[in-house]
Amino acid sequence: MKVDVLVGLQWGDEGKGKIVDVLSPEYDIIARFQGGPNAGHTIESEGYKFILHTIPSGILNSNTTNIIGNGVIIDPYILRKEIDILKEKADVDIFRNLLVSRRSHLILPTHRLLDAVYESAKGSTKIGSTLKGIGPTYTDKTGRNGIRIGDLASPNFYQKYEDLKNRHLQIASNYSVDLNAITIEGLSFDEYEGLWMESLTTLKQLRVIDCEYYIQRALWNGKRVLAEGAQGSLLDIDYGAYPYVTSSNTVAPAVCIGLGVPTSYIDKVFGVFKAYCTRVGNGPFPTELNDEIGDFLRKEGHEFGSTTGRPRRCGWLDIPALRYSVMLNGVTHLFLTKTDVLNKLETIRVCDKYRIEDEEIEDFPYDYSEAAPIYVQRKGWTRSLANVSCVSGLPKELGDYLHLIETRVGIPIVMVSTGPDRHETIMVRPIR
Ligand code: IMP
Repeated sequence: MKVDVLVGLQWGDEGKGKIVDVLSPEYDIIARFQGGPNAGHTIESEGYKFILHTIPSGILNSNTTNIIGNGVIIDPYILRKEIDILKEKADVDIFRNLLVSRRSHLILPTHRLLDAVYESAKGSTKIGSTLKGIGPTYTDKTGRNGIRIGDLASPNFYQKYEDLKNRHLQIASNYSVDLNAITIEGLSFDEYEGLWMESLTTLKQLRVIDCEYYIQRALWNGKRVLAEGAQGSLLDIDYGAYPYVTSSNTVAPAVCIGLGVPTSYIDKVFGVFKAYCTRVGNGPFPTELNDEIGDFLRKEGHEFGSTTGRPRRCGWLDIPALRYSVMLNGVTHLFLTKTDVLNKLETIRVCDKYRIEDEEIEDFPYDYSEAAPIYVQRKGWTRSLANVSCVSGLPKELGDYLHLIETRVGIPIVMVSTGPDRHETIMVRPIR
């Protein structure tokens, strides 16, 4: 058996959580391979809405094993909150169905403190980080200073913790920022640190695995594995519009490193994208709409961050950026989400090319902030999709929109999502 991969093709928040939830009955294992609790994967089911930050989106399916891979970074406090909500509201056997890699790194309270210090020191050049400690934790990982899940079992754990904490406090003291004024999750540093320490008890109750052996042996035994990406391809540390990116590789090749599987084990790559674009945080966004249509998309699409609650910036679909993401990920199947958000629009625009100085270009440029969008326009379908359950019921104008995207990107759309619930999903083609 091989690993299928599901990734976001824009700036995150493409609706990956719902698609994983829909696909999860087809898989024995769902594994997160990168990122941390900067992610917010929303799943709506049977009247409940769950926002998962660290736990893979297959957790509501009782027959699926969920793995937090070695490429993921974990905040014990946030993970415990997620576990508590699931235990209370869903019929899930967390301690049976959730496994954690021994090699995953821990996000310390001082990583979050440093994130806040760095962001406030940046002034107007802020990245707009989620302030979950992502950048500082990955920095310690590559700087070989990090603390891993496997270290929790070590008698030296608390010493390691203190050493790293003191090092962070030393760094933070070099900035002219009042550390006492910084709150984490609305708590003072000391309060947060106390709860973080308590949360280690929950973390220690989870089954810890050697992810690379576990997944490869599962594949040899015929198990089906889906790797679940977080954030989006345009936030990739190497390929996004640097420095306005996250601190991990978000594209499909990162699965090999983040789970410990060789490249030859990757099979299908599912790319999820919204019918328009959104981003949170700062950075270039050529198709951004700072007008009433942008406000309409935000309201209609409930475009407020599921991790930070921030209003998301909204704009038209950017085809060259989508094609770039499809190329980097090697996408084999496209999933279009939030189509219903466009239901009431008379006219829909799509960025088809960019203009930089006097030149028209179709590739994603090194300096994305220079790119001015060149649009094509299509008539909207101006009707509800609520009662559409199969592809033949889709309005002709929506069919034309799908066709436009497929021809420009060169990959077939297999599924169209018309609402947040599992059932609001239309299969356009079989997934082969
Ligand atoms: P960080 O990953 O928290 O350091 O944030 C870096 C940038 O990535 C900021 O613009 C964030 O808003 C953005 N970002 C991080 N995670 C997500 C996500 O899951 N969805 C959308 N944007 C994200």
